[in-house]
Amino acid sequence: MENRPLEYDYSVTKLFMWSTIALGIVGMLVGVIIAWELAFPAVNTMFGSTLAEYTNFSRLRPLHTNAVAYGFTLSGVWASWYYIGQRVLKVSMAESKFLMFIGKAHFYIYAVAVVGVVVSLLLGYTTSKEYAELEWPMDIGIVVIWVLWGISIAGLIGIRREKAIYISIWYFIATFLAIAMLYIFNNLEIPTYFASGGIGNWFHSVSMYSGSNDAMVQWWFGHNAVAFVFTTPIIALIYYFLPKESGQAVYSYKLSLLSFWGLMFVYLWAGGHHVLYSTVPDWVQTMGSVFSIVLILPSWGSAINMLLTMKGEWQQVASSPLIKFMVLGSTFYMFSTLEGPIQAIKSVNAIAHFTDWIIGHVHDGVLGWVAFMIMAALYHMAPRVFKREIYSKSLMSTQFWIQTLGIVLYFTSMWIAGITQGMMWRAHDEFGNLAYSFIDTVTVLHPYYTLRAIGGTLYLIGFIMFAYNIFKTMSARPVEEDELVNASPMGA
Ligand code: HEM
Ligand code: HEM
Repeated sequence: MENRPLEYDYSVTKLFMWSTIALGIVGMLVGVIIAWELAFPAVNTMFGSTLAEYTNFSRLRPLHTNAVAYGFTLSGVWASWYYIGQRVLKVSMAESKFLMFIGKAHFYIYAVAVVGVVVSLLLGYTTSKEYAELEWPMDIGIVVIWVLWGISIAGLIGIRREKAIYISIWYFIATFLAIAMLYIFNNLEIPTYFASGGIGNWFHSVSMYSGSNDAMVQWWFGHNAVAFVFTTPIIALIYYFLPKESGQAVYSYKLSLLSFWGLMFVYLWAGGHHVLYSTVPDWVQTMGSVFSIVLILPSWGSAINMLLTMKGEWQQVASSPLIKFMVLGSTFYMFSTLEGPIQAIKSVNAIAHFTDWIIGHVHDGVLGWVAFMIMAALYHMAPRVFKREIYSKSLMSTQFWIQTLGIVLYFTSMWIAGITQGMMWRAHDEFGNLAYSFIDTVTVLHPYYTLRAIGGTLYLIGFIMFAYNIFKTMSARPVEEDELVNASPMGA
């Protein structure tokens, strides 16, 4: 063990912090545009008839989901990995030229891939599999990026000074392994151009699976993309940043072990809840439902462990806007992991499936849990990485309330819209004729779509305030880490 403090190298963290902010703004802006498009269809063509091909809902929707999931979220996770990894393993990136090279290559190849993804989605190239829309050349790029990240994880662990591997690192490893397996299996595809001897577009491919098999593999992947992009790496973040920021030790080590292995075992079997009442075998559907209910236990295990970490220190929730983000983040995590299992019950899913209630569930999870935690992570890291005080805590607090209001408007409007939609689609008269046509539901939903768009716009405004706060922080007067007012009382 060395006695002098290590000089950690944050250059890769900084690069990924930039992409988190840039892709967050792009992804959420596109989310806001498509929300207004759903409320007012004229917005689809508002940018002129020539541009309408690129700005209509169906082109922009996959751009939104890819930009927020693989752009904003993964950038935030990687910015945090290159920060947390060094600190808890007690090793600096600067100690290994090789790992520095891998980290930089990880970022720059990712940046090139981002441009490729945006252009290809805007041009309409898509495999049409949700969250796996990218065509095969892009998939190869993504595998390279993933392998580079894997090398950086294995490399830092390999040269670590700290013997014990902290919980956050388990979650990073799980994220790496699960996505590597799922992504490769779901994206096995045949490029049609080469298979047909040069006919058609060289970008185009068809999946190796067809029909019900395709649906099963797709939702095994899709559900676990949620689990291993929106859940496990975010748990890695909260297990590090909440104890650091609050100065409290994690409430229970046993509970963290139990919920980690519980999540690992249960998550991978629950994907069947996306294909209830479809042509996939009945036992797969029932298994999906049952495992989804069981999933409440490990999910709540992690969330309760986090909330109890604040035991005896609840006054910090009132005094620190950063703690507010993390405590509300855990609460939204509990909320969406209760709502999800309810939606996975077959009889409930009969009403919820295909409706806006699912969109409501998605966004109470991603806005309240994922994005809140990523912003909290950047707020915690920025002063330490740039060696400057956070520019404005009151701006942070105002941002928190604006975004919380935005989330509430988003999910409440989608709950009402979704359940109304589900009930109207099922309603029938005494002869079994449907009581409403599709357009009747669209008319009824209009006010809720407008409310959602307002909520989303508020959330985006809050995000721009966050970006401004970070930029102002960077340009403030430099201070040493131990001078920082909010420097953590805990070790690494
Ligand atoms: C115990 C944990 C969870 C369970 C059992 C669960 C269950 C479900 C169910 C039943 C659906 C609807 C499937 C359908 O009828 O189409 C769904 C959709 C979805 N959930 Fe969850 N959920 C959980 C947690 C989360 C969390 C924490 C997030 C995000 C942070 C999330 C994100 C999503 C997304 C993105 C979809 C939409 C997938 C699509 O495109 O159709 N879920 N979930
Ligand atoms: C400013 C904030 C946001 C707004 C206004 C917004 C709006 C939207 C809209 C309108 C849709 C399409 C809904 C539909 O097809 O009916 C959507 C889908 C989606 N959004 Fe967002 N979004 C925002 C932020 C985010 C963030 C931060 C994430 C993830 C980190 C996210 C993840 C998703 C996902 C996964 C879907 C697909 C859901 C599904 O297929 O079930 N969104 N969003």
